[in-house]
Amino acid sequence: MRIIAIMNQKGGVGKTTSSVNIAAGLARLGKRVCLIDLDSQGNSSSHLGIDINQGMQTIYQVFSGERKLVETRQLVKSNLWVVPANIDLAAVEVELVDAQGREFILKQALEQFAREERDKPLDYVIMDCPPALNTVTINALTAATEILIPVQPHYLSLQGLSRLLETTALIKRRLNRNLIITGMMLCLYETGTRLAADVTDDLMRFLEESDPQAPWANAKVFNSRIRRNIRLAEAPSYAQSIFEYAPDSTGAHDYGNLVQEVLACAKNQHNPLSSAA
Ligand SMILES: Nc1ncnc2c1ncn2[C@@H]1O[C@H](COP(=O)(O)OP(=O)(O)O)[C@@H](O)[C@H]1O
Ligand SMILES: [Mg+2]
Repeated sequence: MRIIAIMNQKGGVGKTTSSVNIAAGLARLGKRVCLIDLDSQGNSSSHLGIDINQGMQTIYQVFSGERKLVETRQLVKSNLWVVPANIDLAAVEVELVDAQGREFILKQALEQFAREERDKPLDYVIMDCPPALNTVTINALTAATEILIPVQPHYLSLQGLSRLLETTALIKRRLNRNLIITGMMLCLYETGTRLAADVTDDLMRFLEESDPQAPWANAKVFNSRIRRNIRLAEAPSYAQSIFEYAPDSTGAHDYGNLVQEVLACAKNQHNPLSSAA
């Protein structure tokens, strides 16, 4: 089981759009996928048609210890489950401030999930992280086998990236020694602009020159660039992934290619949960 955190502490870079469409793209190809919404705004839950205002079970109940993951997930499409989030999740930061082992709650919940579903294991868990380096994000990075980072090709995005990379290195040292950054995906890409091309070159050079011990040592910049496409912004209003809403759009094309690249990275990856089971 690959457990992928889609994270960047910057908002509006394409985390949710990528989480939903990568999860849906993998499910379409027959993979069993669970998308865990870790943002109290609940955008990926509502993108897939879950009404987050109702008093339903969410990831908050998992953090507070009231529910197991299997009890909170909802089947939204063939092969695709969502563990929703809503504003309740915001309370976790305060409620867990002094709790011992608070970094491991999600990891333990996923291990339990894997044990209980041993006969029909999931292939992928995709975690849509909040735009913050908070307790919930640390839980995601502690539970993850890998990280995908959406990057918007702007100079300011690269500044924020070094902070993000330092955090992943710290988590790798202290909490999750197998953590790797699989890749960076360029989202909201403006084709044909000098800026996008320059930032992409800088990013590739940075990765090539990086310390071999760093979690991003083998990270790549995915070849598939996610171009700016209005269909991607419209799809959530119809509770559909881009593959259903606009299958012929550039958005569906770009995410379709990215999903193939993500699938191709499955080789040679360590699987701590299957060895624990
Ligand atoms: N490639 C894209 N083309 C056009 N709009 C996009 C694209 N990717 C994301 N968006 C829109 O940009 C906004 C921010 O994207 P989102 O995925 O919610 O970012 P994040 O989760 O990082 O905050 C949303 O309104 C989304 O619909
Ligand atoms: Mg989001």
